[in-house]
Amino acid sequence: MTKIVSAINKENATKEALSQLAKGNTVAIPTETVYGLAADATNGVAIAKVFQQKNRPSFNPLICHVDGIGMAAEYGDINYVARKLMEAFWPGPLTLVLPLVVTSKAHDLVTAGLGSIGLRCPNGISREIISHFGKPLAAPSANRSGRISPTSATHVASEFEGSDLLIVDDGPCEVGLESTILKIDGKILTLLRSGGISKQQIEQIAGLSVLLPDENLNVADKILAPGMMRSHYAPDAKVKLNCKSCDDEAAWLGFGPQNVHAEHSLNLSPSSNLIEAGSNLYGFMKALDNTGSTTICVAPIPMQGLGIAINDRLSRAAAPRDTNKET
Ligand code: TXA
Ligand code: MG
Repeated sequence: MTKIVSAINKENATKEALSQLAKGNTVAIPTETVYGLAADATNGVAIAKVFQQKNRPSFNPLICHVDGIGMAAEYGDINYVARKLMEAFWPGPLTLVLPLVVTSKAHDLVTAGLGSIGLRCPNGISREIISHFGKPLAAPSANRSGRISPTSATHVASEFEGSDLLIVDDGPCEVGLESTILKIDGKILTLLRSGGISKQQIEQIAGLSVLLPDENLNVADKILAPGMMRSHYAPDAKVKLNCKSCDDEAAWLGFGPQNVHAEHSLNLSPSSNLIEAGSNLYGFMKALDNTGSTTICVAPIPMQGLGIAINDRLSRAAAPRDTNKET
């Protein structure tokens, strides 16, 4: 059942939200843009629940919501331009995509295994919840996949009818439109999504011009909206899907109770739990790739619930490397 708590009693709403977050559950939180479906950004199982509840067919990276520049610095590399923009527009509807710092504790599912992280500081009660929690909350908009973003608590409740979900109600969202997303690479600023803060506002503070993704001819920088490229961020090893057994000298990525012999083998979830499998996916692929095996054979993953997103990610990893075309 969904449960709505009012932010008017701030202490109570914060306490209830923190208790759910600490248990690794999701909580719907109000922000100035839209309501978000939030979870502990460092907890893979909690993040996998976000994808499962949203019914997202692919693992897009999620925005990490922080309480300010100090917390942001533990995750993203903040250069001079990023700092100026944070000082001017935070808290507010601006997400900055920054290089990931090596000591970041954000789970791989939050960054989709990319070397960058999207950071934003929301205002109001959500910022206070994050401060008390002491860690960022990863949160996409609190709607089921393919539906419009919710701007009120009742809107969230109707999206997740029948799910166990705590919803913090702070009335209608001021902006009602998702945040502006800006990627910062040194002095190169690229607008990934327009929103509450305009290109002109950013240019004025940054003192630099902002590129639109299609103006940017650098191919590496064009791989901005992850999931667009069929085979990017693939492991070095060749990936074979829906395997019943492991090829000689290949590494094995299993799912479910079946035992398959291989020198290097990991199991996404021996108990066939898709949430556990989703939370282990990136880490296990990386670990098997690091063994130097030339091939990774992957067991079949059921095409249901979170399995759809897992299979989507695996099929990108398995796509021929020369078909690096946008899809
Ligand atoms: O206003 C908002 O931004 C809302 C509230 C809840 O904060 N959130 C939101 O999240 O709209 P979502 O998941 O619906 O959209 C996030 C977008 C995705 O398109 C994703 O690809 C992009 O942000 N994104 C996140 N991290 C990224 C990264 N490291 N690199 C590139 N794009 C990133
Ligand atoms: Mg969305």
